[in-house]
Amino acid sequence: ARVHHLKWDVKYEYKSPDCFSKLSITINGLSPGPTITATRGDTVVVEVFNGLLTENTAIHWHGIRQLGTPWSDGTEGVTQCPIQPGETFVYRFVVDREGTYMYHAHYGMQRSAGLHGMIRVLVPEGTREPFTYDGERTLVINDWWHKSTFEQATGLASSKFTWIGEPQSLLINGRGRYNCSMAGPMDVCNTTSPECSPASFVLVPGKTYRLRIASVASLSAFNLELEGHNLTIVEADGHYVRPVVVKNLNVYSGETYSVIIKADQDPSRNYWVGLNVVSRKPGTQTGTAILNYYPNHPLARPPTAPPAGPMWNDVEYRFNQSRSIVSHPEYVEPPPRTSDRLIILLNTQNKIDGYTKWAVNNVSFTLPLTPYLVAIKQGLRHVFSQKPAPETYDLKTYDIHNVSHNPNATTSNSIYRMDFGSTVDVVLQNANTLNPNNSETHPWHLHGHDFWVMGYGMGKFDPEVDPKSYNLVDPIQKNTVAVHPYGWTALRFVANNPGVWAFHCHVEAHFFMGMGVVFEEGVEKLGKLPTSIMGCGESKHR
Ligand code: C2O
Ligand code: CU
Repeated sequence: ARVHHLKWDVKYEYKSPDCFSKLSITINGLSPGPTITATRGDTVVVEVFNGLLTENTAIHWHGIRQLGTPWSDGTEGVTQCPIQPGETFVYRFVVDREGTYMYHAHYGMQRSAGLHGMIRVLVPEGTREPFTYDGERTLVINDWWHKSTFEQATGLASSKFTWIGEPQSLLINGRGRYNCSMAGPMDVCNTTSPECSPASFVLVPGKTYRLRIASVASLSAFNLELEGHNLTIVEADGHYVRPVVVKNLNVYSGETYSVIIKADQDPSRNYWVGLNVVSRKPGTQTGTAILNYYPNHPLARPPTAPPAGPMWNDVEYRFNQSRSIVSHPEYVEPPPRTSDRLIILLNTQNKIDGYTKWAVNNVSFTLPLTPYLVAIKQGLRHVFSQKPAPETYDLKTYDIHNVSHNPNATTSNSIYRMDFGSTVDVVLQNANTLNPNNSETHPWHLHGHDFWVMGYGMGKFDPEVDPKSYNLVDPIQKNTVAVHPYGWTALRFVANNPGVWAFHCHVEAHFFMGMGVVFEEGVEKLGKLPTSIMGCGESKHR
């Protein structure tokens, strides 16, 4: 196994990913940042220099479980103090499983300011995968706003609530297109800028390709379609999938996929890659890139219109596609047949003291000043609420289909503490928002573990009946999963990775508004913590 040493300089720069000039957070000048490529079993060492001048930062390695290195998870407030301007922090972790992952800022709303990228973990030479291909291409997909993340965050956190709105453009590998005639007189918007020429993926006719896809979206649920080409889904979140052929793929923020495509169309032209918003009423033009059949010009426009994707509000379509993704038969790791604990998490939108928040079982999450990992290890009990976070909600009377005002909602930094080695079931229950006839899609992401996706349902989860329909045979393991409108999603995981782990909605604005929880297990089993994660709140360098 090798050790990869990376040196990253994180700073703001003016970028025009969609032709509109805006400050973006870059890594060594790039947004998306450099793709990390390593082989299963390798160690990755990333020296992050915070050159943001006036902002803290932290970087999370999304999908990497950090077995034995919980202090490298990069979750500010949970596993470390923020990296201050001018400081360097060293992340060191092993990539223990092949697959497609991502990294991104885990501080404020910096992910959507551009601090994100892809991680590819390859199989060791000579190891076979359950599919073959001639070449590989990567797609980092994202939604993009012209307002700074400060303005966005301020609007969300104000009593005069201002929603971030729909994105101005959709980006594929950091390239999109905004209609500059809509820009203001003071804006810099230049449609001839080479920065916003579309991404182009060269394909040799007749060959087969693996596309690795990662959604770092701030808000949007995406549908990705490659004009004229079916997609065979073969990997999800680092696990092999029983191959499913689809016309287009729904990708939720925080998810990764690999799909196989064959360049078997008329080779005399190029084809569109079309990225569309689903689940929310689209207010953004289709994001496009080009599938370039060699030797056509890489930027030759396909003669057709880009794919429009499925109906944005076809929940059943997305629900069924989610359900069709199960483990590849040769790679099944069956889940424990029973669990030791059931936690039901009701996701609601609330008003708390006049502020609009998201809450889980009536608790809107806030981060403590002292990272939990340090607080728990050093026995600092007064730095976060010691009251156990609630296990369930009022299942009998709560009406998930109508607006509910939840007057008893509070904010808290309380957490869930797991018995080490226990099997935990978590059911995420969706509900109506504060707007009538509205329920959103929430992609939930768990740090430090993969969970089995035991089942999805529509309506209210019934603990007496629904577990009978769980997939105990070949559930897929993931780290991020969608909770569909008015539906529920059931997960199972084993709490066997000592550390403190965030579990939250991957919509950046939702997590910012409190849509998350924290799980702790086995911190007492850890040796001495690195002092580099300390220094804030009451965590002392000792
Ligand atoms: Cu990709 Cu805690 O997030
Ligand atoms: Cu959400």
